[in-house]
Amino acid sequence: MSLLWEKLIKPAMFSLDAERAHDIGMSALRSGVAAKMDIGGPTPSDAASAFGEIERFGLKFPNPVGMAAGFDKNCIAVEQLADLGFGFVEIGTVTFEPQQGNPKPRLFRLPNENALINRLGFNNDGAVAVVERLKKLDRRSYILGVNIGRNKEVPNERAIENYLQTFDLVSPFADYVAINVSSPNTPELRDLQRSENLDLLLGAVRDRSQGRVPILVKIAPDLGEADIEEIVEICLRLEIAGIIATNTTTSREGISAADSERIGPGGLSGSPLQQRSTEVISTIYRHSKGKLPIIGVGGIFDANDAFRKIAAGASLVQAYTGFVYGGPGFARDINIGLASLLRTGGFGSLDEAVGSAVKV
Ligand code: FNR
Repeated sequence: MSLLWEKLIKPAMFSLDAERAHDIGMSALRSGVAAKMDIGGPTPSDAASAFGEIERFGLKFPNPVGMAAGFDKNCIAVEQLADLGFGFVEIGTVTFEPQQGNPKPRLFRLPNENALINRLGFNNDGAVAVVERLKKLDRRSYILGVNIGRNKEVPNERAIENYLQTFDLVSPFADYVAINVSSPNTPELRDLQRSENLDLLLGAVRDRSQGRVPILVKIAPDLGEADIEEIVEICLRLEIAGIIATNTTTSREGISAADSERIGPGGLSGSPLQQRSTEVISTIYRHSKGKLPIIGVGGIFDANDAFRKIAAGASLVQAYTGFVYGGPGFARDINIGLASLLRTGGFGSLDEAVGSAVKV
């Protein structure tokens, strides 16, 4: 498959506008064609044995490699992504009201940098439509997260109510719910990361949940150490299940000034984000003394990249941009590669490797 992907499918997809290629890719996935071609397949059992049991916030994960939020915003191809070897899929971001998102073009590739820039702006079908799809899923073999955000026209003063409306609808059908306060494409959304706001928002969702579903928070890479420390303190105090680190960055480090100028605003993902997101992971790990599960995401393209996130403190990983560049075999390759890195590194399980590069 990887030859077919590299020589034929990827060049064809990359010759199209990026959002159109995404839509075509989603249709192909949904039709099940990828899985039928046997280009993915579930994680081989020897990889599973290298991982050992992967239990996080009360859930058992079949493997540690997840599809990050934003790829399947509307819950269209979850089972097919699991068939390609993803152990968990985070759908969304879902908002209470449906949204069109920003004017097109709003998704851009930077192939020389293995990166993407997007300013989609939470285009999604809305919580009511997504719940109808959630109800129909066969949920036996993978973990399903639902990532929620606020509608663009709702000001931050009314954000809590808007999040709770979505939470009430989706949470009965989710294994975990991720509170997204870190997209750069909804004005002022990231102000919800400030401690006084985050405390109230996470406290309200936690009270509403009454322990029925694990709640995670997804944060930006563009935070200082003191901000991260405060977020960790809030999460530990409110017994939040974990932190997803990180979302896309507004930084343009690692890409050319010409590309930056041409493309304009949006969140940068992929290789240029890799190091910064790993630093955020180790900062969270140190400040929480390893007590807060971290889902590490940002610039993972292969098993070595995933392993570095795990050694920095991530106990699960996710990717989006790496899948766009790597194709249908992506999750399976990372799982097999990770298992082999664990064995050669002398780790008896995934848990033994988590945070192994960090001094707490
Ligand atoms: C995203 N990401 C994202 N995150 C989120 O919480 N809600 C969302 O709706 C989206 N949408 C989205 C669209 C596109 C086109 C991209 C590329 C990314 C962020 C994503 O989940 C992830 O955190 C970052 O992209 C970093 O990981 P990668 O892409 O470098 O593996």
